[in-house]
Amino acid sequence: MKYGYFDDNALEYVITTPKTPLPWINYLGNKEFFSLISNTCGGYTFYKDAKLLRLTRYRYNNVPYDNNGKYFFIKDGDTVWNPGWQPVKTTLDSYECRHGLGYSTWVSTKNDIEAKVLTFVPMDDNCEVSKVTLTNKKSSDANITLFSYVEWCLWNADDDMKNFQRNLSTGEVEVTDGGSVIYHKTEYRERRNHYAIYGVNTKVDGFDTSRDDFLGAYNGPDSPDAVAAGKCTNSMASGWSPIAAHQINVSLKPGESKTFVFTLGYIENPEDDKWEAPSVVNKKPAVAMLAKYNNEAAVDAALAELKKYWSELLSIYHVSSGNEKVDRMVNIWNQYQCMVTFNMSRSASYYESGIGRGMGFRDSCQDLLGFVHLIPDRARQRIIDIASTQFQDGSAYHQYQPLTKKGNSDIGSGFNDDPLWLIAGTSAYIRETGDLSILDEMVPFDNDMSVAKTLMGHLKCSFDFTATHKGPHGLPLIGRADWNDCLNLNCFSEHPGESFQTFGPSEGPVAESVFIAGMFVKYGEEYAELAELKGDTAEAERARAEIKKVYDAATTAGWDGEWFVRAYDANSNKVGSKECEEGQIYIEPQGFCVLAGIGVKEGLAEKALKSVEERLDTKYGIMILQPAYTKYHLELGEVSSYPPGYKENAGIFCHNNPWVSIAETVLGHGNRAFDIYKKTCPAYVEEISDIHCTEPYVYSQMVAGRDAKFHGQGKNSWLTGTAAWTFVNISQYILGVYPTHKGLSINPCVPEDFGDFTLTRKFRGATYNISVKQNGAQKGISKLTVNGKEVEGNIIPYEEGVKEYTVEAILG
Ligand code: GLC
Ligand code: GLC
Repeated sequence: MKYGYFDDNALEYVITTPKTPLPWINYLGNKEFFSLISNTCGGYTFYKDAKLLRLTRYRYNNVPYDNNGKYFFIKDGDTVWNPGWQPVKTTLDSYECRHGLGYSTWVSTKNDIEAKVLTFVPMDDNCEVSKVTLTNKKSSDANITLFSYVEWCLWNADDDMKNFQRNLSTGEVEVTDGGSVIYHKTEYRERRNHYAIYGVNTKVDGFDTSRDDFLGAYNGPDSPDAVAAGKCTNSMASGWSPIAAHQINVSLKPGESKTFVFTLGYIENPEDDKWEAPSVVNKKPAVAMLAKYNNEAAVDAALAELKKYWSELLSIYHVSSGNEKVDRMVNIWNQYQCMVTFNMSRSASYYESGIGRGMGFRDSCQDLLGFVHLIPDRARQRIIDIASTQFQDGSAYHQYQPLTKKGNSDIGSGFNDDPLWLIAGTSAYIRETGDLSILDEMVPFDNDMSVAKTLMGHLKCSFDFTATHKGPHGLPLIGRADWNDCLNLNCFSEHPGESFQTFGPSEGPVAESVFIAGMFVKYGEEYAELAELKGDTAEAERARAEIKKVYDAATTAGWDGEWFVRAYDANSNKVGSKECEEGQIYIEPQGFCVLAGIGVKEGLAEKALKSVEERLDTKYGIMILQPAYTKYHLELGEVSSYPPGYKENAGIFCHNNPWVSIAETVLGHGNRAFDIYKKTCPAYVEEISDIHCTEPYVYSQMVAGRDAKFHGQGKNSWLTGTAAWTFVNISQYILGVYPTHKGLSINPCVPEDFGDFTLTRKFRGATYNISVKQNGAQKGISKLTVNGKEVEGNIIPYEEGVKEYTVEAILG
C-alpha cells in the first residue's frame, strides 16, 4: 500500500494522506541553519548544533507522536483546523504535502477555505521562511482567523528537558511592532550573544508569548484556548515556557487570496553590541533579516535560488536508464539523502534525538563517499576536520562535536576500524578531484597543532595502526568494536546501564576482526596507490607486503570452509562460524572481503556469496547474521542483547547490503547485484509502505529481519551510511562509472534485461556524455570509444583542456 507518489519532474514526493504509518519527514537548510519537518508540520529547528543551539522544542518521547512543530491554526466559525492536519487533527476535505529538495509544501482545504503553506530555509540566511496563502473558495465572504505557533527551546536541548528547577525561571521575551515580531532572548542577559525571532510581515490582531496563556492550563497544542476563543491574550512570558504565536484576522471576498510571510530566525550580535538600551536587545540584524523576506516576491526568488542550487548539484551525475525507479533514486533521492548525511551525520533525525551522538569518525568518512562529487570543497574541509581528531598512534576519537570540532572523550577511541576509513575518504576525494595537495596539508593530532603532520602522515598512521595491532592469527585486533558497534568482544558487561562500547578493556590483545582484514586489503591498497602518486614507491611496496600478510590470514584463519569467519573472540574462539551454535554466518566479512578482492582467484569469494544467498537472504534484504542470538552472550556484547531480528542481531542492516551487491559485481553477477539493490531500494519498497513504514524516498538504517515479529518494518530512516554506500554501489559499480586517479573508468555490471542507458557525469571540469549498449551482457566492455576514437581498457584517458567527452561503451 502507498500513501503518496513520486513526482519526478518536480523532484518531489507527494504525500496524499496525513496518516502515514510514521511521520515522514524532510530536512530544510544547507549550511548552518536547519529544520526537520514532518508531513504533518511536526519537527524543530536548530543553528549548527542540534544539541547546543536548538531554537524550538520537540518532545521525542511524547504521545501523541510527533509533538511540537511549526503550526498554523485556522479558525473558521466553530471549526478549527491545521493545514498539516496536526495538532488539532480535524478531518480535512483535502490534504497534500510535497517534500522537495530543501523545502516542503502543503495544500489543504476545509469548508471551502484553502490553505497553502511553503516552508524552506533560504540558501544564505539563518532563518526558516513560511509563506501561508489563504483562499476563499466559497461564494460568500469569509471571516477567518489565522494563528501561528512555535514553542521555544531554551537553547541547550539536553538541559531543556531535564533542568526544570532552573529553566522554568529563565525564559525572557520581547515584542515589537504590536506583536508582529517576537524575540526569544532567554540567557541573552548573561553568556549568550544570540536570540531567536518569529515575525510576520503584517500587522497582527494579537499575540502570545506565554505557552500556558495561549494553550490554557492542562491543554496541549491540539486544543489551544486562545484559538477556541478566536483571540490571543497578548501575554508576556516571564519564565515558564515562552512561545511565539500570532493572531491575524483575515477577511476574504469570494475567490480572494491573501498571503502572509512568517520568518523564524537566529540572530547573533557582537559581544560589545548586544544592547540598544538597558535590557533591550540590539535588533538591527533582526530587522534587516525580516525586511529581506517581507514580501512574496522575495520569498519566491529565494526559493528559486534554492531550486537552482539543487538542479546544479544534481547535474553532476545523471542517468537515463528508462527504469524510472532507478533514475529517480540515482538522480534525485539517493543524492539528496547523501547531502543530508553530510549536514547531519548521525545527530538529528526522528530516531537520533540531536543530543546524543555528534559526528562519527567512521560514519562521516563513509558519508563522504556519497557526497564528495557534489561538494568537493566542503568534503576537503571535512577530511581535515576528521583527521584532526586522530591520535598520534593512528587510533582516533570515535566521535566529535560539530560545533567545537573536538573529539568526544566520553566515548573515546578504540574502535579499530576507524583509522582505515580516513584512507577511504581521502582516496575518494583525490580520485574525484585529482587534488593531491590535500596530502601535504598540515593536520593536528587531537586538535593539537604542535604535533601536526601532513595528511599523508596521518594516513600512514592509520595504515600502521592496523599493521601493528594484530592478534594471534595475524588478523587485525578488533578493539572496542569494528564497523559493527555491537560486536563487543572485549566488553563482558554484566550490569544494565553499562555502555557496551566503552565498558571493559578496550585493547584486548586477542580478539580479532576478519572484517577489518577486508578493509585493510581494500584501503591499504588505496593507501599504496597514494604513496605511488607521491612518488614513494618504497612505501607502496612496504604497504603491499603488509597487505599480503593480512590477505593470507584472511584466506586461512579467516576462512570457515563455506564463508569467511567474522572474528575471533577474546578466548580465540571463532565468531560467525559453523562451529558456533548461534550467529554462524555474518554478512560483513563476506561483503567486504570479496569487494576487496579477497578469495576471488581462490574461488572462496564465489562460495562466500553463495552462502550469503542461501543463509542470509530474505525478500526484504540480506540479514546481518544467522541464526539470530536467542540468548545473551557475555563474550559477544551488545549484538546478542537485541531481540532476534532487530538491529545488529539478525536485522537487515541496510548499510552492508550494498557491500554484498558490490561484491557480486566484482564477480560479474549483474543479475544478483541488481536484485540485492532492489530489495532495500526505497522506490521499490514504496509499494509496501504499510509494511515498511518509513519514508519511501530514503533509506533506513535497519529493516526487521526474518526472526522479528515485524519482518520488513523499517526503523531509523535518513541518517545512515546506507545512503552513501548504495549510491557508490549503483553509480560506480552497477552503472559502473568509477573515478580513478587516471580518469573515469567505465565498467557497468547490470542485469541481462537492463537495456541500454545514457549517463552524464561532470568530472574534473569536463562533461562526459556516456552511452552504454548492453547487448544482454552482465559485465565486460568489448569496445570503448572516446570522442570517436577506440580506447584500450576501461579508463577514459584524461586530456588536459578537453571539456566534453562523448563516450560509447559496448558490453558483451
Ligand atoms: C550505526 C552506526 C555505525 C555502525 C552501525 C553498525 O549505523 O552509526 O557507525 O557502523 O550502526 O553497528
Ligand atoms: C548503539 C546502538 C547500536 C548502534 C550504535 C551506534 O550501540 O545500540 O545499534 O549501531 O549505538 O553507535
